Amino acid sequence: MGGLSSLAVGIWLHELSAPTKHYVADIGQSDRAELDALVSSLRAFGAEVVLVDLRSSMAAVASDLLRYRARHDGGYWNTTGAARFVLVNELAPLMREDGCRVLAHGCVGGGNDQRRFARYSAQVAPELTVLEPWTDPRALERFPDRAAMTEAVVRHGLRLDPGSGTERSTDANLAGASHESAELEDLDTPVTRLDPRWSRWPEQAPAEPETVTITFRDGRVVDVDGSGPDPVDWMARANEVGARQGVWLRDVVERRIIGTVCRGIYEAPGLELLERAWTRILQACLDAAGRELYDRLGAALGAAMYEGRWLEPAARAARDGVDRLLDEVGGSVTLSVHRGIARVERVKVAGGVVQQTRFGSGGNRWSRVATV
Ligand code: ARG
Repeated sequence: MGGLSSLAVGIWLHELSAPTKHYVADIGQSDRAELDALVSSLRAFGAEVVLVDLRSSMAAVASDLLRYRARHDGGYWNTTGAARFVLVNELAPLMREDGCRVLAHGCVGGGNDQRRFARYSAQVAPELTVLEPWTDPRALERFPDRAAMTEAVVRHGLRLDPGSGTERSTDANLAGASHESAELEDLDTPVTRLDPRWSRWPEQAPAEPETVTITFRDGRVVDVDGSGPDPVDWMARANEVGARQGVWLRDVVERRIIGTVCRGIYEAPGLELLERAWTRILQACLDAAGRELYDRLGAALGAAMYEGRWLEPAARAARDGVDRLLDEVGGSVTLSVHRGIARVERVKVAGGVVQQTRFGSGGNRWSRVATV
C-alpha cells in the first residue's frame, strides 16, 4: 500500500475497528527514505505494518517483460499489471503465514487492477477472501471521491506518495510508472502537461549524446554498461540513462479489460532503451518464421499480463515457446542515446548465427544455425 486509495482503505478499516495488518512492498516505486516515512506515519496512526523488499522479484518480472516483449496497446510495457502479479504472488504466502484471512486492496473503478488482484488471488491464494472496498457502497459513502480521501490521509498525517493526489494518480515500480488524471484523460490535453516521475523531456536532455552497451545472453539482459547481471542493477542503470536522455514515453489510448477506452501516459525509460537493443539482437538472430512466431507469442503474453492471466496455462505455454526460440540468442549492442532517440551504433552477435550475404562481407541477412 502507499497510494491515496489504499491509504484510504487503511483508514476505513481502522474506523471499522477491523483487525488489520498493512503490507508495504518496496517494488522500486520510490527511495527507501520515502517508504520508511510512509511506514512510520502508518505506525504513528496506530497501524500494524510490515515493509517487504520485493525489488528482486519486481526486477525479475521486468526482465520477463522485455524477454517476452509483453506490451499492451500502443506499446505500454504493462508495468502496473506486472506489479499486481508480483504483489499477490509474493505477499499472499506471507499473509497466509501471518494468519490473514482477507486480502484488501485499494484499486478503484475502471477495473483492470481489481480484476488482476482477483485473478492472481484466486490462483495463488484461493483461501484468502478478496475485499474490494471501492466497490462497496459503505466505503464509497465514507469516501465518495479522491478529495475526501486526500482530506482524511492528510488529517491523519499519513505520508502520501508524491505522484498520488486529488488530481492525479501515478502507479510506479522499478520497471516504470503509469500516470492517469482527469485532465490527461481528455484526449485534447497535450502530454506535456504531465510531470514525469523520473524522466526528462527530450529537449531537456544534455547537449551531448552518450553511449551505453547492453549485453544479452540466452535471451536475457546480463549487463548494462558494467552493471553486472542482477536485474535490479541493470534496470537501474538503464533507467538512469533513458531518463537522462528523454527516452521513456508512451502516450496511449488503451482498451481496458472491461472494454472501456482510456488514455494513459507511461514512463519506462529503462525498458524503452533496452528494447532498442533487444530488437536488433532479435533481427540478427531469428529467421523470418521464428520472428513471426515470437511476435505473435509476445502479443499473447502482453494481453495475458494486462489481463492478469500471466499464470494461466496459455501464458505458460507461450513462454515455453519463446524460451525455445531464444536458446543461445545473445550478443552486445552499443547504443548512442540522445534526446529521446537511441540509435544502434555497434552490434556483436553471440554464437549460433550465420551470415548469408549476396555482397561478400557486410551483407545483412542472418539466420540461426539450427541445433538438433
Ligand atoms: N491503465 C494501466 C493499467 O491498467 C495503469 C493503471 C494504474 N495506473 C495508475 N496511475 N493508477 O495497467
